[in-house]
Amino acid sequence: MSQITPYNTDAGKKKEVEDMFDNIAPKYDLLNHVLSMKIDVLWRNTLVKWMSKDVPKEVLDVATGTGDLAIAVQKGTGADVVGLDLSQQMLNVGIDKIKKLNLDAKISMQKGDAENLPFDNNKFDAVSVAFGVRNFENLEKGLSELRRVVKENSSVYILEFSKVEGFFGPLYMFYFKNILPQIGKLVSKDNRAYTYLPDSVNAFPFGEKMKSILLNTGFRKVEYKKQSLGIATIYKATK
Ligand SMILES: C[S@@+](CC[C@H](N)C(=O)[O-])C[C@H]1O[C@@H](n2cnc3c(N)ncnc32)[C@H](O)[C@@H]1O
Repeated sequence: MSQITPYNTDAGKKKEVEDMFDNIAPKYDLLNHVLSMKIDVLWRNTLVKWMSKDVPKEVLDVATGTGDLAIAVQKGTGADVVGLDLSQQMLNVGIDKIKKLNLDAKISMQKGDAENLPFDNNKFDAVSVAFGVRNFENLEKGLSELRRVVKENSSVYILEFSKVEGFFGPLYMFYFKNILPQIGKLVSKDNRAYTYLPDSVNAFPFGEKMKSILLNTGFRKVEYKKQSLGIATIYKATK
């Protein structure tokens, strides 16, 4: 898999990803909802519904960013949630949101790296990641860390962009590659962030390929559900 990085410098993908999200943090939520016409909210809720069947008490949301999935998981399952992210600016936006919602007793946010999680083995009843794994510097290392911290027989839920197949594909790709980056650049003032988005999605495994990567990481069972004609996919990987 080719390594697509935000700024193509020598800094390394992890540092570039942290810098990019620090840059776009103030506009991230706005752009997310405008560019996806709020469909991202539906996808997160579908993930939470799937997870809620496990009745988790303690959940880790990796690459939590501004905390939307952490908040949805807390509301949908009642669990205590830890949100972890590389970008302090993204976390700060999330911390404000969580305070306003009076959820700070149930959701804690901390800075950290998915590829080196600061938690014991078998700690969490469930782990979630939305739009995060594509940004990992070392995908296999990150996935094996997610597996390490979830309990035996429990699951990691991953929501990630995939590729639209069929008649709607070319139309969607035109929007994703041409229109979305222009709006993203205008609003976020970051020249690369919303070009990196389609480029990184294009280079990222999905469907059966992603399933086999998860199985090779040591998960014993992997199921997945395509969302919105394949724009995104939710994977459930069970330890
Ligand atoms: C597209 S945002 C997704 C945020 C949130 N999950 C959501 O659904 O809106 C991706 C996030 O992944 C974080 N990230 C990328 N690589 C990471 C890593 N190795 N460890 C922790 N967070 C990481 C970024 O800092 C960024 O906040």
